[in-house]
Amino acid sequence: MAVMLFLLVAMILVENSHQEYVYIKGMSLTSIPEDLVSKKVTVLHAENNDIVELDSIPKLPTLKYLYLSRNKLYSFPNLENVAETLEYLYLEYNNISYINSDRLDMLAHLKYLYLTQNSISSIPDVSGPSDTLTLLKLDYNAFTTFPRWEVFGKSLTYLNLIQNEISEIPLDGVPDIIGPNGTLVTLYLGKNPIKEMPRWNNLSKSLVTLSLSGTTVSELTDEDLDYFPALKSLDLSTANISEFPYLPRHGPQLTTLNLYNNKIERLTEVELQPLQNLSTITCSANRLTSIPNLCFANFKPNFNLVLKSSLLTCDTKMALALGARAAVAGYQLDLTSSKCSQPAQLQNQYVENVPIEQMENPIGAKFISREYYPVEPPFNCYFPIASMEATNGSLTCAITCSQANSCLIFGYLPDVGDDLSSPGICAITSMSGIGLETDLDFKWFAPM
Ligand SMILES: *[C@@H]1O[C@H](CO)[C@@H](O)[C@H](O)[C@H]1NC(C)=O
Ligand SMILES: *[C@@H]1O[C@H](CO)[C@@H](O)[C@H](O)[C@H]1NC(C)=O
Ligand SMILES: *[C@@H]1O[C@H](CO)[C@@H](O)[C@H](O)[C@H]1NC(C)=O
Ligand SMILES: *[C@@H]1O[C@H](CO)[C@@H](O)[C@H](O)[C@H]1NC(C)=O
Ligand SMILES: *[C@@H]1O[C@H](CO)[C@@H](O)[C@H](O)[C@H]1NC(C)=O
Ligand SMILES: *[C@@H]1O[C@H](CO)[C@@H](O)[C@H](O)[C@H]1NC(C)=O
Repeated sequence: MAVMLFLLVAMILVENSHQEYVYIKGMSLTSIPEDLVSKKVTVLHAENNDIVELDSIPKLPTLKYLYLSRNKLYSFPNLENVAETLEYLYLEYNNISYINSDRLDMLAHLKYLYLTQNSISSIPDVSGPSDTLTLLKLDYNAFTTFPRWEVFGKSLTYLNLIQNEISEIPLDGVPDIIGPNGTLVTLYLGKNPIKEMPRWNNLSKSLVTLSLSGTTVSELTDEDLDYFPALKSLDLSTANISEFPYLPRHGPQLTTLNLYNNKIERLTEVELQPLQNLSTITCSANRLTSIPNLCFANFKPNFNLVLKSSLLTCDTKMALALGARAAVAGYQLDLTSSKCSQPAQLQNQYVENVPIEQMENPIGAKFISREYYPVEPPFNCYFPIASMEATNGSLTCAITCSQANSCLIFGYLPDVGDDLSSPGICAITSMSGIGLETDLDFKWFAPM
């Protein structure tokens, strides 16, 4: 009965926009039997069987997709009979440790090759698929060095080597796997024992996305990024980084940076300023004790700073930084699961639940009127690069301003007439700001 059911399932052919599907999954097959597969098949699902070795496959003149995942293959299958048409080959979750070069070489139309979770430590440098192969998944295998191919992989745009044992990254010239046209766009190297940012001359020219998550990379510098002129997205989560990278030259080219779960203790607007084109920066689960005050930063709208699961000091500085979040349009700060570690009376409370008035003032920030004097709207005064509500007149502005190294002058626009103690708007400027607009009726103050 069970066998008949299986056979029935196997015979179901789904005709779908000229693709013919055949399913012979989970049938304890040890080979691909001719009589179970229609000659017109384009997509053949034969995963979850007991195939240990595949020395031949029936002639299937239109086969494009072949699924052999979750079998028991220990060597690369012989697909000679479908080599003229095969484009997508799925071999995940087998135990392949040996790839015969002739068998790979003959697959001259292969586009995607999935070899996740096998025991492969090298791939022969064959040219057969090298003009067509764009995606190669080799995660959860046994590579100990970065593959060195002259031709194989020269058209790759996506290479995944997560969870191998790669510690050796050749740094000079080779590996030259991107070929003359530099095609590789996405490279996953996470969960390998890699200690430093790779500095390839050729490989990284076209890379847009690089993941080194779960490695022990401990530093990221502008010089490292000289080797990645096209890089936009960098994942260094769960690594060994203790200083937030300062990237004045290459920071602006990045759009996402993930530093989740490192050992970073300090993050200020100084490091964030060059990252002005980032849409998301993740620095959750680090050792930060304070959050940056972005009143002075000049970010794109919809800048998203993710600082979840931090233990923070909930003092006046924090209150001001949170005020900046409220005041700067498009700035999002995610403090989910972040708690106050100080002061004692706020310990273990979620930062987002603590009323701002309760945050302490250990640095004694106060406005001493003599420290600032009114000035004419400065010639060439930059338009405020950030503004925030002044709940207690110019006092709020002055306190805010005194926190910031870069602040040279502050502006204040009372809601009511000339009353410098009434609520209003603070304008924060710094000489590094951009944009010119002066006639805003602010009252301007400069430090003595
Ligand atoms: C995979 O193959 C290796 C030999 O190449 C063998 O030692 C190992 O036991 C195999 N693993 C499984 C799960 O069959
Ligand atoms: C790879 O880089 C080296 C050194 O920069 C250069 O001499 C070589 O021409 C490059 N190869 C390709 C294929 O771009
Ligand atoms: C590189 O690109 C050029 C132009 O697109 C193409 O003619 C050439 O075949 C490519 N070379 C390789 C090795 O892919
Ligand atoms: C992590 O970085 C520190 C230096 O900041 C270094 O001493 C340590 O050996 C690194 N740990 C690993 C596992 O590489
Ligand atoms: C950063 O973004 C701005 C505005 O979108 C753009 O003009 C600039 O080219 C970007 N910088 C880099 C290095 O990509
Ligand atoms: C507002 O500032 C004045 C000094 O200008 C001060 O006397 C007053 O206590 C402040 N109010 C609050 C709520 O901080």
